[in-house]
Amino acid sequence: MRKLTNVLVTGGAGFIGCNFIHVLLQKTPSFKGRVINLDALTYAGNAASLADVESDFGGSRYFFERADITDRAAVEAIFKKYDIDTVIHFAAESHVDRSILGPEAFIKTNVMGTFTLLDAARNFWADTNADGTKGIRSDVLFHHVSTDEVYGSLGDTGYFTETTPYDPRSPYSASKASSDHLVFAYHHTYGLPVTLSNCSNNYGPYHFPEKLIPLMILNMLEGKSLPVYGDGKNIRDWLFVEDHNTAVWAIVNKGRTGEKYNIGGENEWTNIDLLHRLIDIVAEKAKLDPAKVRSTITYVKDRPGHDRRYAIDCSKLKAELGWKQSVTFEQGLAKTVDWYLNNEKWVEGIKSGDYKNWVEKNYTAR
Ligand code: NAD
Ligand code: DAU
Repeated sequence: MRKLTNVLVTGGAGFIGCNFIHVLLQKTPSFKGRVINLDALTYAGNAASLADVESDFGGSRYFFERADITDRAAVEAIFKKYDIDTVIHFAAESHVDRSILGPEAFIKTNVMGTFTLLDAARNFWADTNADGTKGIRSDVLFHHVSTDEVYGSLGDTGYFTETTPYDPRSPYSASKASSDHLVFAYHHTYGLPVTLSNCSNNYGPYHFPEKLIPLMILNMLEGKSLPVYGDGKNIRDWLFVEDHNTAVWAIVNKGRTGEKYNIGGENEWTNIDLLHRLIDIVAEKAKLDPAKVRSTITYVKDRPGHDRRYAIDCSKLKAELGWKQSVTFEQGLAKTVDWYLNNEKWVEGIKSGDYKNWVEKNYTAR
């Protein structure tokens, strides 16, 4: 039986991690434990995303530790300080474009960081088996959050399943694939209780505006051009972030140890079709002229090695754990646009920091 009492969430100040902490502490009454958020607060981490959680649960059920997952001593101290029994590992460098411009941070955080966490967990959870041999406690769990990008790129048909061979093609996806392999290596070699999930593209509140959907929303609101890579026909499978997180929590609770689960939206869109849909929603809500917004669409140089199509088969998760998506794409996009319109302070905070430098350096020239 898993304890799920002292839950270490890595990367909890990022997009998916902060949404996860909100879901767990505010919308999961069956969870009575503590959440320890370990985050280095890189450009993608934002403490402001958890201000409400901090004021409602800080010091009782929510604890923030600023640390780097590659820092072995810091990680070990956190395991000890909070008697961690569950790890939900979101922390990563997550943006494909940045991984093309500078892969080193991806190898460091995604590969070495995951290794450091796994090894610290193995040591902290060490136990003696009934026969006197060395083992690992069975009431603990290391859940690794990964991506569908590890499977590579699909043609016009077919889906990624849990048995699709790995074929990562960007420095980002290669680093995530390495981390996935390390997770299963620790399970098979040392008996570390693990689960793993590979999810498709998320969207929703608190999404850093270097990624397609929030970048486009903010550019529309500012009257800036809307940069579409290549021919705009690359396909992604979009999932509302809360649905990703309910799936992760279902796996952490009921997923079989040593198993991986695909998570997806069953919701494929070409980038250009998605953009037109988003323009309709933003134009209506922000009272903009949709034709004028459409005229700012700009086809730009393609992303090197741009994967053509991702599509997830998540039938294993649905059949075994009874999970399903809770919102349609229309509903999820409407919620997302509302969130950006209603959270100007958060947006302004982001814009005044690294985001501004990134956009100036990488987007204005195109
Ligand atoms: P994000 O970039 O928004 O957030 C990453 C968080 O990790 C940030 O808070 C950052 O400060 C923290 N972090 C980075 N390096 C760290 C380090 N060395 N030590 C400690 N903390 C560090 O990422 P996200 O979009 O929320 O993604 C979270 C996880 O989900 C990642 O593992 C990613 O690969 C995976 N994933 C993302 C998507 C998606 O669509 N965004 C889809 C599938 C899987
Ligand atoms: O599939 C899961 C992955 O989804 C996650 O593992 C990654 O962490 C996450 O960033 C996301 O990766 P993508 O590369 O698919 O997301 P991004 O938002 O960067 O791009 C989505 C699509 O839109 C992709 O085909 C590239 C295109 N694009 C993106 C940007 C930022 C554009 O056409 N213009 C843009 O300005």
